[in-house]
Amino acid sequence: MFEKVLTGHINIPDSQKLANYEKTGGYRAWRKALKEMTSDQVIEVVKQSNLRGRGGAGFPAGMKWGFVPKTTDKPHYLLNNADESEPGTFKDRLIINGNPHSTIEGSMIASYAIRANTCYIYIRGEFVKEAKVLESAIREAYDKGYLGKNILGSGFNLDMYVHRGAGAYICGEETGLIESLEGKRGWPRIKPPFPAIEGVFRCPTIVNNVETLACVPYIIERGAEWFKSIGPASGPGPKLYCLSGHVKKPGVYELPMGVNLKELIYEYGGGILNDKKLKAVIPGGSSVPVLTAEEIDVAMDFDSLAKIGTMLGSAGVIVMDEDTDMVNALLNIAHFYRHESCGQCTPCREGTHWAEKLLKKIKSGQGTMADIDLLAEVADHINFRTICPLGDAAAMPIQSFVKKFRHEFEAKVRKSAA
Ligand SMILES: Cc1cc2nc3c(=O)[nH]c(=O)nc-3n(C[C@H](O)[C@H](O)[C@H](O)COP(=O)(O)O)c2cc1C
Ligand code: SF4
Repeated sequence: MFEKVLTGHINIPDSQKLANYEKTGGYRAWRKALKEMTSDQVIEVVKQSNLRGRGGAGFPAGMKWGFVPKTTDKPHYLLNNADESEPGTFKDRLIINGNPHSTIEGSMIASYAIRANTCYIYIRGEFVKEAKVLESAIREAYDKGYLGKNILGSGFNLDMYVHRGAGAYICGEETGLIESLEGKRGWPRIKPPFPAIEGVFRCPTIVNNVETLACVPYIIERGAEWFKSIGPASGPGPKLYCLSGHVKKPGVYELPMGVNLKELIYEYGGGILNDKKLKAVIPGGSSVPVLTAEEIDVAMDFDSLAKIGTMLGSAGVIVMDEDTDMVNALLNIAHFYRHESCGQCTPCREGTHWAEKLLKKIKSGQGTMADIDLLAEVADHINFRTICPLGDAAAMPIQSFVKKFRHEFEAKVRKSAA
């Protein structure tokens, strides 16, 4: 029987309180890290665990922490990314509301590992309630002596702040987030240099997702082997899946990494709404390539999804039934990326604009067969040609929708020509 850890106690009253978190073993890992481990030992355990980032790219957390230079007199920073703006994604919000101390404790341990004395939790502006939950949890941690100066007599100092965003999707991208935190417009930076070398205030910075950091206390407390025993060894651990769309029981499900997508939809999610047939599934938030109903017998982990040409992304599983108009669904997605493009680079700024325009034309019955090819070509010219991955995120859904559901695009064109 799989033991829920990230969401195990969230249904008890006042689960967000420090005292209730401590009853489940909370802050033992923080004590252990400070008293029994060096920073390098913490990094080593996280490396051994194969914890991979839950924010979208799946980069190994321990390896990233190891990139922070050891010989610099600049201050280091830990940024907890609570922007959670990816369409179809609502798992970090659940952690913040129900188990905020897990991501706070994970941020403390990560700060210790990378020798940062300042941590910011960057939270999307719309999460007003969640920002308050975090602020009061941080206050509790200060009162208990888990934050501040000379924490638990260790000589280690750490301050933690909540910083609210102003509603831009691009501020979830790590360098857009860094710019925004510095008080500027959230324009992503060209990499390299990567944030671990030159991040916020041009100092070494690690950016990690809320859920990634929430896993850390459990790894330190229970060990890397425990973590690796859950799901595939190349990217294991407990995982939060967000299930939405045409499904009977939408919600956040904590399951082992690598749960079968079909099982997630039909067993945990209760199947398709109104017992309709399934048409398509987006497995990792709107930025990743779509799957057809025939492709869903797949394990929901980084490598298995990559093998079939899509991604785990933020694990935002969007289910679409047989009645879904795929041209319209793609138009919704394209509209989002056109609106959220920061405008810095031409392929993304112009390409997202033209993609939306072409889709509107096809949807309204004015499109031609050449417009379908042009739409795919526009996406090809965005992909891999931009400063940040928002461009790829805009292009990949277009490429996959047109490839896998071309007949629906053609049907609209034929209807208009008739
Ligand atoms: C357009 C865009 C939006 C993103 N939004 C988020 C977000 O809301 N939350 C998040 O954790 N990562 C987001 N990311 C990924 C971050 O850039 C970064 O990879 C992540 O925060 C690193 O944390 P992790 O290694 O723990 O996953 C976004 C990336 C892009 C390109
Ligand atoms: S890809 Fe788009 S969002 Fe990213 S920097 Fe370029 S214009 Fe901005």
